[in-house]
Amino acid sequence: MAQIDRRDHNPLSRVALRARLQTAIVGRHVELHEEIASTNPRAMVLAERGAPEGAVVLAESQTAGRGRLGRRWFAPPSSSLLMSLLLRPPLEPAQAQRVTMVCSLAIVEGVAAVSGLTPRLKWPNDILLAGKKLGGVLTELGVARHRLQHVVVGMGLNVNLEMDVLPPVASPATSLLRELGYPVSRFDLLVAILERLDVRYMQLLSGWSPHTAWREHLATLGQTVRVGTRHEVIEGVAEDVDANGSLLLRTTDGLLRPVLVGDVTLRGRPVGMATG
Ligand code: BTN
Repeated sequence: MAQIDRRDHNPLSRVALRARLQTAIVGRHVELHEEIASTNPRAMVLAERGAPEGAVVLAESQTAGRGRLGRRWFAPPSSSLLMSLLLRPPLEPAQAQRVTMVCSLAIVEGVAAVSGLTPRLKWPNDILLAGKKLGGVLTELGVARHRLQHVVVGMGLNVNLEMDVLPPVASPATSLLRELGYPVSRFDLLVAILERLDVRYMQLLSGWSPHTAWREHLATLGQTVRVGTRHEVIEGVAEDVDANGSLLLRTTDGLLRPVLVGDVTLRGRPVGMATG
């Protein structure tokens, strides 16, 4: 029987990316690391050294990949898209989740353009496919004197990942390879995502709110959920999300409680939380 070729024949290349990208802001500066601890702190260093917004740090492999809430992010070398984007949006710190919304939307749109599959989003920052975690977004802020100086958005996407290589994880993960049955060009996917990011970020700069588009992709709404925050666990119906990305939870006492940071669990089971 013929073997399925599971290799990605179109490797990531900084030179090819610069030649191919037709963007105004995203990709003004591009770094591609064979191995790095984590792309997020590298992008933070660039930010502090005055790098232009739109700078992108890519890695084939991370030795200390970070997930949300102090978790680790695992990805075998050259299996995934691992990147951090530096932006300097004219927003208040409380509005920074809008940048994450823009990035999540761009990932959904880029994946759809290249694979024909449309991921959904799990509040606040997970990318889901077939109910399992395909990727995640880790946003870190640079704030000085209550002003937002810069935002680093770390994005991890399981592309050509064989799922059995991951360490045991809290809940199911998937990859594009797993869902499609064949590998996807990480380069084409990267270009598609960065181009969508550029379009969406320019819209944000011109005053557009990503809230409605982001909300339409959310898999979480209408569900009875348990949300773990740093201080407590709150149960209720995930009724809506507000413009700044807070989840509006209708608790049993009838109150509508906004939650900005947390992890959603459905009926005691984490929904699509995977690596980390
Ligand atoms: C999560 O779902 O917990 C967020 C995961 C974010 C992972 C990406 S991979 C590229 C960037 N560098 C990191 O160390 N983390 C983010």
